[in-house]
Amino acid sequence: MSNFKVTRYRVRIGNENRVLERPFSAVFLSDLHNVSYGENNRLLLQEIRNENPALVLVAGDMLTAGRETQMDAAVSLMNELTKRYQVYYANGNHEHRMKEKPEKYGASYERYSNTIKSLGVHLLENGSERLEIQRMALRIWGLELDQTYFRRGGRSVLTASRIDEMLGRPEEGCFHILLAHHPAYFDAYASWGADLTLSGHLHGGMIRLPFVGGLVSPQMRLFPKYDKGLYTKKGKKLIVSAGLGNHTVNIRINNPPELVVIDFV
Ligand SMILES: [Fe+2]
Repeated sequence: MSNFKVTRYRVRIGNENRVLERPFSAVFLSDLHNVSYGENNRLLLQEIRNENPALVLVAGDMLTAGRETQMDAAVSLMNELTKRYQVYYANGNHEHRMKEKPEKYGASYERYSNTIKSLGVHLLENGSERLEIQRMALRIWGLELDQTYFRRGGRSVLTASRIDEMLGRPEEGCFHILLAHHPAYFDAYASWGADLTLSGHLHGGMIRLPFVGGLVSPQMRLFPKYDKGLYTKKGKKLIVSAGLGNHTVNIRINNPPELVVIDFV
């Protein structure tokens, strides 16, 4: 791939009870699909270093499931990132598919997940971890939905109570960041209690039209909702990345790949 752009968002996590002493940033990666910007993603890593993030957050599809799943670019990126940063990672539909169908994809998920975990990636497979930054409590959750939530026609309906069953309840007094690959279920994520959800999957709608937005999802759904950008609902936020790579349909028009940087204030 030739180039990507950096998109910045500002998200307030402090309130009258919890004050952030100084801003910090997180880099958010999604849908790399095993693409490399320069050898071993040298250009992407350089840009991430320039941002000096406190965290790296990953919302899945870092590779593309295939008969011979290629994972060299995704693994080498995780290898470099974990040398410098805390990396929190939730699977997308591609990683999940590899996990659920070993008869089709062999041991590739086991190989990939064991490798990135051994490098120090915090792989959140319907799980969470709590951390503190400047005495501010954060919990980072990884939601992994099964294939029925990604179907082209007749998707399953996701509710907040279903997320409760999968993840448990978010506790009071924490800022909750939910890594959830598919943005379509923002209502459920927000009602469940995610203060900030980070999603990808739609690749920005591949072809972006002025005043309209994304035209089509990689699953060929027209005018996907929540295709790229920052959305707010009752104080809860969703950031959708246009993603860093492509697969199958290699089209991006008026829709450059993007590296998302979130400035927390
Ligand atoms: Fe996806």
